[in-house]
Amino acid sequence: MINNNLPKHIAIIMDGNGRWAKRRGLSRIRGHVRGVDSIREITTACAKRHIEQLTLYAFSKENWSRPRYEVEILMRLLKRYLIRERPTILDNNIRFTAIGQIEGLPKDVQKEIAINKEESKSNTGMVLCLALNYGGRAEIVDAARGIVADALDGKVSLSDIDEEVFKRHMYTSNMSDPDLLIRTGGDMRVSNFLLWEISYAELWVTPVCWPDFRKENLEEAIRDYSARERRYGGLIE
Ligand code: IPE
Ligand code: IPE
Ligand code: MG
Repeated sequence: MINNNLPKHIAIIMDGNGRWAKRRGLSRIRGHVRGVDSIREITTACAKRHIEQLTLYAFSKENWSRPRYEVEILMRLLKRYLIRERPTILDNNIRFTAIGQIEGLPKDVQKEIAINKEESKSNTGMVLCLALNYGGRAEIVDAARGIVADALDGKVSLSDIDEEVFKRHMYTSNMSDPDLLIRTGGDMRVSNFLLWEISYAELWVTPVCWPDFRKENLEEAIRDYSARERRYGGLIE
């Protein structure tokens, strides 16, 4: 049976900004700047396509290990993105949210995240979720801590702990799992992204670097997804 549906939730590992720039003899930073254009185009395209949720991996916990200069510029670009793209979010009825250890981001970035969340909270269209200072293992550890805290408070007992309880403690507790995981830049790895949530996601990797990724590329991924058979370990008659 062919899965003719649109993915409800698309997650993207936006990779290859640095290589895109290097190939053009530009600094890595130019790649990050151009990457913002791709974010705008893909966000709008997904909203118009009635995708329910788009989750974008924008900054991992491991990305702090990059040179200080690059990290500082990334944080500055992130702040600028959050301010400049506010009208795009609001005009497209998008509800903005973020996952990751947000408290570990610079205060001025946290402030803009809070404004975007607040101003878009009544929107009824697509959910746009940015993964920031995000790590998949950290998310699982944070969930385990939350569960232990509940257990110490007597709110949960050992025999109650199941996948549902875990799910409720994940950053993504109120979201569906991604149906389609796209990675640009060609590397065949998940780089600590949504480890719990992607257990049955369909993977689609393209060599196209993120700054070159356009809505035609997105359509190609969606078409490929629609033609796949999702079996979840079972059999289809
Ligand atoms: C993705 O592009 C952006 C972030 C991780 C912030 P990269 O900066 O990883 O680009 P490459 O992979 O080095 O080309
Ligand atoms: C994944 O890209 C993280 C983001 C896109 C934010 P990386 O460039 O950090 O991943 P690796 O280093 O290739 O695994
Ligand atoms: Mg990379």
